Amino acid sequence: MSASQWPDITRPDVGTALVAETPAGAAEVFAALERAPWPDGLLSVNAFVGAEDATALTYTQWAAGAADPAFFERLTGTEPVEYRLYRSTGRQVPAAPGCAVVVSVEFDGPDEQRQRRWVDTVFDALTSEAAPPAGLISANFHLSTDGTRLINYAEWTDARAHRDAMAKSGQGTVGSAPQWRRVLDFPVRRREFRRYHLLRGLSAPSRPQVLVTGATGAVGGQVVAQLRASGTPVRALVRDPGSAALPDGVDVRRGDLLAPETVAAAAEGADVAFLMWPFPTTDVVPAVLDALARHVRRVVFLSSGAVRDDLEEQENAIGAWHAEVERAIERSGLEWTFLRPHAFATNTLAWAPQIRDGDVVRGVYGAAAMPLLHEADIAAVAVRALVEGGHVGKRYVLTGPEALTQAEQVRVIGEAIGRPLRWEEITPEAARQRMLDQWPAAVVDVMLGAQARLVAEPGPRTSTVEEVTGVPARTFREWATDHAADFR
Ligand SMILES: NC(=O)c1ccc[n+]([C@@H]2O[C@H](COP(=O)([O-])OP(=O)(O)OC[C@H]3O[C@@H](n4cnc5c(N)ncnc54)[C@H](OP(=O)(O)O)[C@@H]3O)[C@@H](O)[C@H]2O)c1
Repeated sequence: MSASQWPDITRPDVGTALVAETPAGAAEVFAALERAPWPDGLLSVNAFVGAEDATALTYTQWAAGAADPAFFERLTGTEPVEYRLYRSTGRQVPAAPGCAVVVSVEFDGPDEQRQRRWVDTVFDALTSEAAPPAGLISANFHLSTDGTRLINYAEWTDARAHRDAMAKSGQGTVGSAPQWRRVLDFPVRRREFRRYHLLRGLSAPSRPQVLVTGATGAVGGQVVAQLRASGTPVRALVRDPGSAALPDGVDVRRGDLLAPETVAAAAEGADVAFLMWPFPTTDVVPAVLDALARHVRRVVFLSSGAVRDDLEEQENAIGAWHAEVERAIERSGLEWTFLRPHAFATNTLAWAPQIRDGDVVRGVYGAAAMPLLHEADIAAVAVRALVEGGHVGKRYVLTGPEALTQAEQVRVIGEAIGRPLRWEEITPEAARQRMLDQWPAAVVDVMLGAQARLVAEPGPRTSTVEEVTGVPARTFREWATDHAADFR
């Protein structure tokens, strides 16, 4: 346990926040905390007092699945409301908060979509302002898990800055852009805010141990990097530790997904696992899942957008192998989250040799359009599902934010590397011959068939990356800029 001032609202290992207005003040809360042992899974306790009145607020953070409302009640004398963080913004300019403003909104009856819409409406209004309100440090939106209410926990430099922003807008909001009208008109049962000062906070520096497979690959590599950046302990299963260049602090274990006993050895002591299955062979999957289930409680599986829930039998080889792994995971008794990404931006790295050799990319179906995904966004969703609660049993269909044709992708790569590039069409048969060097015929035919369909209709687009992470998915232009060196 370590003493800390303000709660770290976006720390990724928090699954649930239990929050309530409490009769007990900070002194009573912390006296009760000292009498009771610090429970497993309690990550932080913060006690606030009203800036203008004597109300008290207790805000506690819990690891995924560990929230204990009875403990909260013993601590504070009040039944808490259970929340999960949905979106956050701010913190560009580090500043010491002096005031927390908690806006509470209640609705008539449960409706998660409506909770999200309210938050999105406030985001719209906040981002349509020419500049953020002076003194606002961050705004964090928590949805109650019963779907009936939410809180916006915002940190301000001081209570006066918030009072001034409200006075300046003159309409009960912190800004004056016309979009605030939609926030005020949003049908709610009750909406009110209070300003608080922090009296005392305590936090535990606990993080789950995560096993990552495919750690040398595009997505797994990002999962490792993002987990390490947040201080989460990482164990990586790799086939060749000698050649795996992983960040400092990663516990590297030799293993092979096709050898279940090596997976069991690598999983010992881990709490959750990121699993990928990069091959059509699936016989060994149940044994690998048994090995994992002996140690970890939850698996986040990198599946594929090709999986169709509306079909008894999958229509193509890629959907079939991923669906088979998903079904085995569902039967394994493990908690699970499935990531179903559509096409990765890294697929365009196949053009790198042609781009290094000249200014032309020869390929088939240049007019096929799809919203390509940045591997960092797939990883960001994976990290959320690995370290926080609220994602168990979810099937997240992921895409990038905008559909570009292959010819446009080539042009964007050219702009990123500072050299005009163009697309030149070849026949489907010539493309097929080239792809057979890398993939079995069944997979090549699926890929080519999918691209042909994308000429008539661009691939589907979802906003799941933003819904899960609170940050919009990166564009292909950002990806191309990040990978410019790979094409030079
Ligand atoms: N590309 C797409 O558009 C797309 C779309 C939807 C879903 N997906 C899914 O995403 C996967 C690719 O992810 P990615 O791009 O991150 O992968 P990647 O960059 O191609 O890397 C593959 C990873 O798999 C590891 N690996 C291969 N064989 C292994 C084995 N026998 N045991 C242990 N590890 C092994 C490799 O490790 P080594 O260092 O040992 O080689 C490497 O880390 C696909 O297989 C598919 O399941 C892809």
